[in-house]
Amino acid sequence: MKSSEIRNAFITFFEQKNHQFVPGVPIVPENDPTLLFINAGMNQFKDVFLETGSREYSRAVNSQVCVRVSGKHNDLEDVGKDSTHLTSFEMLGNWSFGDYYKKEAIIWAWEFLTERLGIAKNKLVASVFEDDDEALEIWKTHTDINKKTIVKCDAKDNFWEMGATGPCGPCSEIHVYLDEGSVPENVTQDDLNSGKFIELWNLVFIQSNRKTDGSLEPLPNTHVDTGAGLERLVAYMQQTSSNYETDLFSPVIKKIESLTNKTYSESLEGMPHRVIADHVRTLCFGIADNVMPSNEGRGYVLRRLLRRACRYAKNLGVSEPILYKCVEDVIDVLAGHFEHLKDRQHYIEKVIKAEEESFLKTLSAGLSMFDQVVNSLKKTNQNVISGQAAFKLYDTYGFPIDLTALLAQEKNLTLDLKTYN
Ligand code: ALA
Repeated sequence: MKSSEIRNAFITFFEQKNHQFVPGVPIVPENDPTLLFINAGMNQFKDVFLETGSREYSRAVNSQVCVRVSGKHNDLEDVGKDSTHLTSFEMLGNWSFGDYYKKEAIIWAWEFLTERLGIAKNKLVASVFEDDDEALEIWKTHTDINKKTIVKCDAKDNFWEMGATGPCGPCSEIHVYLDEGSVPENVTQDDLNSGKFIELWNLVFIQSNRKTDGSLEPLPNTHVDTGAGLERLVAYMQQTSSNYETDLFSPVIKKIESLTNKTYSESLEGMPHRVIADHVRTLCFGIADNVMPSNEGRGYVLRRLLRRACRYAKNLGVSEPILYKCVEDVIDVLAGHFEHLKDRQHYIEKVIKAEEESFLKTLSAGLSMFDQVVNSLKKTNQNVISGQAAFKLYDTYGFPIDLTALLAQEKNLTLDLKTYN
């Protein structure tokens, strides 16, 4: 199935179960100072969970672009190193606002994955929060999952919170096994995090509000908040364990190969291609929603992504602007669902090109300065890059501190962040 077919199948499935399709919101949250970017499909419904707002419907479905580069949910460091984390992704979600609860949520998730998408039942594992015997019983009695592949997990993985404060609750996740054969019986929480599984779906049973003092306040009603990462689902359905080999990313990877003349590899060697493909996509979503690369706040997040991507393009031997040339490939595959991207394509290209040109003026000089710093540290057997050097890279050469940190990490050096700050 193509990614667009999977997205549509999800939306239609829940529409047929009386859910209202509600378009995703722009990635810049309105009226929520606790968030820099939308980080989950449920953000636009936070007021409904907290009962400070209401909607005309009690069930909703959609696909929401989420950005996870800051705050509680920050995946930036993993992007490119593996092939499952992304700085932006589409979260498919279905919601109940005081309507159905655990039973329907579990039954429908299972039905969608196994019957509508046809994923083999012996490849799936369900996890439940360790204290949630109700969810455990529902999995055992209302689905035909192998009971020995239901795992109890602690709060680290199975208690979902939107941020430091806000709606939260225990969750039940569905993971798919990537190795040959059936899921081994009696899998553990550690197994789920071992790289042999991918989390496909998260069912959150919203029942509390985390307050600023850290306490949990019970909500007047219980709700369902689910999230299924479209890119991961597509990767599994298209029989690859990598997002980058799906129809969502492979045209962009191909474009990067042709622009750089460097073949993509699924190993760590392919990290530059993956970082560029991921970061350009997030830049497209951000600029389309009117975030401009700049020196502060959201704009600085985009600038940091763009500069990281430029540096990885340089690793592939390219010193002229190429990121903007990937925009059309990112947008072509998304345009059917995100029409606003197509409308703004030309503008996005112009913004990215101008930013690239500006950073490329100082990138080479900054990298030479970094090399000099590394060489002089090596001569004296030191391994800490000074705050002064990091600040000069920032101030004179435009290197965001996380880019300098990344370069340092690649050379097994650390950074004196305290002095830098
Ligand atoms: N809000 C839940 C998540 O982001 C579904 O995983």
